[in-house]
Amino acid sequence: MKLGLDDVVAAETILSHVDGEAGRLIIRGHDLEALAGRVPYEEAVAMLWDGLVPSSGSDLRALIGAARVRAFARFAPMASHLSGLTPVEGMRLLLASLPDTEKDHAALAVGAAAVAAAMAVRGARGFSPVAPDPSAGHAADLLRMLRDAPADEGEAAALDTYLVTVIDHGLNASTFTARIVASTEAGLLSSVVAGLCALKGPLHGGAPGPVLDMLDAIGGADKAEAWLDDAIGRGERLMGFGHRVYRVRDPRADVLKAAAARLKGRNNRVAFAEEVEWAALKALAKHKPGRRLDTNVEFYTALLLEALGIPREGFTPLFAAGRTAGWAAHAIEQERTGRIIRPQSRYVGPWPAEAA
Ligand code: CMC
Repeated sequence: MKLGLDDVVAAETILSHVDGEAGRLIIRGHDLEALAGRVPYEEAVAMLWDGLVPSSGSDLRALIGAARVRAFARFAPMASHLSGLTPVEGMRLLLASLPDTEKDHAALAVGAAAVAAAMAVRGARGFSPVAPDPSAGHAADLLRMLRDAPADEGEAAALDTYLVTVIDHGLNASTFTARIVASTEAGLLSSVVAGLCALKGPLHGGAPGPVLDMLDAIGGADKAEAWLDDAIGRGERLMGFGHRVYRVRDPRADVLKAAAARLKGRNNRVAFAEEVEWAALKALAKHKPGRRLDTNVEFYTALLLEALGIPREGFTPLFAAGRTAGWAAHAIEQERTGRIIRPQSRYVGPWPAEAA
């Protein structure tokens, strides 16, 4: 038995494939690099959902835009409940309020996730929500709802690149969770909420905020090597490094690094981050020889989202907003198998005393 189910195959999927040895991510027959930065998020969603989600053949940009409006109408009265919650908790609260019986539930989930992410990030800081514009592209509208200022073309393209990059990624912890919930026929929106709950932990989707905390603590490139050496020496895990499946560099890291480097502005710390990354890889090779630890998606996620002016506590909600399309597709795929996921545990506790 493997505690972390390493290498256990628990589902068949047509959605995505992660090749951990080659550092390759295939999404519905396309390499990540052929999609991210080349198609808007809605087009990637349509491709991912093709033949699986009933609405995938329709105009998804319009359907998801309408879903943002529908979700905003439901969520706006709850805005006052968001202060005192972290953004990811606020997002969980909002999404959990959606009934599983809603029509076009997959498109609603995607629209609602963006609205909930933006509203929860603003609400946690005491700002009022910004209403969606259904005619705008999903990424541009998400940025506008977050910052209450229009996104320029380069910024919208960068967020599109990010959302497409994280749209799906094999049977990661949150996707497996979503599939387990779907296998009980609990419903698609419940599956998405369950996925969010699994994503929020620092070992999965909660890492990018702490990546920036680490860069802040390091302070300058000249201090990186000593700082990282100390941290690993104390047994700490470096956020943004290591992966259960990738034994080489996570291909998403390079896609996001290139997108972040293209963004101009005072928030852009990519050059500094590159020096920290180099020092981190050196320190990991020294302290964990033979472990094959490399950069994962979260490292440059942090740099990209920071350059877009998004506060670090909003990074996990944005990850969830992108991944919702994947969770929804996996939930439908799992439901179609008609089989509940129900593994076994091995009992290692005491046995009752035999009756005399
Ligand atoms: N920093 C330092 N040491 C590490 C790291 C790290 N980031 N990651 C793994 N190790 C060590 C680990 O301590 C272990 O060493 P030892 O055998 O001496 O105890 C060895 O490398 C093997 O690690 P593991 O525990 O078998 O790795 P895992 O597959 O259980 O964990 C992980 C994968 C992603 C949870 C882990 O690498 C980690 O905690 N990384 C930091 C958090 C992070 O960046 N998370 C985002 C993951 S990518 C987004 C996603 O797809 O979810």
